[in-house]
Amino acid sequence: MNQNTYNISFSDTKYPTLALERDSQLSQHLTVQNSPVLFGCRTGICGTCLVEVEGDIPPPNSEELEILEIFSPGNKQARLACQIKLTNNIKIIEEGRGKKEEGRRKEVRKEGKKEEKVDGDSL
Ligand code: FES
Repeated sequence: MNQNTYNISFSDTKYPTLALERDSQLSQHLTVQNSPVLFGCRTGICGTCLVEVEGDIPPPNSEELEILEIFSPGNKQARLACQIKLTNNIKIIEEGRGKKEEGRRKEVRKEGKKEEKVDGDSL
């Protein structure tokens, strides 16, 4: 049986499962409205779209592997979402670099607020 659509699900998020046609490029279909995955260059260079993936999809090519070794060394589930062509159902179990950087920015902002509060309390 030749399947024409596959599902992308997002673990631990509010985003619903998406159904896309076979061989769809994720970078052309995932947006901030329909997925938690963030994109930057969309050409496999910046690492913003780093994710962990469960599912049987073709392995990364040598260029993607080079970038993965920089941003997620040794992680066999790591992929660049902008380089994934959908050939099976997949689950994105963790959003990578872009999300983590956003998390760090929030932590810094929180710490900044704490410092402000501490300073305010001490006055
Ligand atoms: S968006 Fe830059 S590597 Fe995927």
